[in-house]
Amino acid sequence: MVAIGSLALGVIAAYAWNEAQPDVDVVVPTASADSSATPPPSPAVLPTEPAPTATEHTFNTELHSIDAATSLWVVVNKVRPLEPATHEPSPLIPLTALPGGSDQQLVLEAAAALVALYERLQADGLPLSVATAYRSYEYQSEIYQEYVAVWGRAHTETLVARPGYSEHQTGLAVDVFAASACRIKECFADEPTYAWLVDNAADFGFIERYPAGAQAVTGYQFEPWHWRYVGSELAQEMRSQGILTLEELFDLPPAPTYAE
Ligand code: DAL
Ligand code: ZN
Repeated sequence: MVAIGSLALGVIAAYAWNEAQPDVDVVVPTASADSSATPPPSPAVLPTEPAPTATEHTFNTELHSIDAATSLWVVVNKVRPLEPATHEPSPLIPLTALPGGSDQQLVLEAAAALVALYERLQADGLPLSVATAYRSYEYQSEIYQEYVAVWGRAHTETLVARPGYSEHQTGLAVDVFAASACRIKECFADEPTYAWLVDNAADFGFIERYPAGAQAVTGYQFEPWHWRYVGSELAQEMRSQGILTLEELFDLPPAPTYAE
């Protein structure tokens, strides 16, 4: 087992948010209708300092692979299975610092970021527990089959990924909860912890992967409990630009259903 030391937490805490400079409205003086008249200069239309120029916004979407199973930015959905399907991430770190986390694991960077997020949440007086994090191909297969037995295939596939198609298999995704009554339930979205995550999780590198109203793109119902680690640079970009899904950010086709 690898412990998450203060150095790793320091690195996570040091993430900076480079906000794009907003566009600035510039008031341009207009010509007078009566060209012979010389109206007094108006301070409202004569800027006393040079007008700021808008900075062109750029974000390098090619910094990391979206295809490699080991990549921070891997995009996994119903038309983008993991390669290989049985991919096993490494190293996986137990989430012992979090309630419910001792039997759960994430890859090193995501685990350190989640601990840092949890410490900030605690400082803000809010609870967070881990429901599930890394799931192997075999475990995802068990869950999928259990759901199919109860709910049928069509409904299951709006809730649970097939093995080889789940973000949980990357070791970069975690399901969290606050009150037990809303564990893996949509009512988690009504809790203060969820509101905090929506506002702040990006600073720790996490995005909400299955937001409300995005099933036509992601293929899944609203999952307010499912958070995916992508690193703070990408997460903050999505937050500042109001981009809801990885598919939209990377200009990928929507993935509502499997090919077969
Ligand atoms: N619930 C998500 C989609 C998964 O099974 O990976
Ligand atoms: Zn999940």
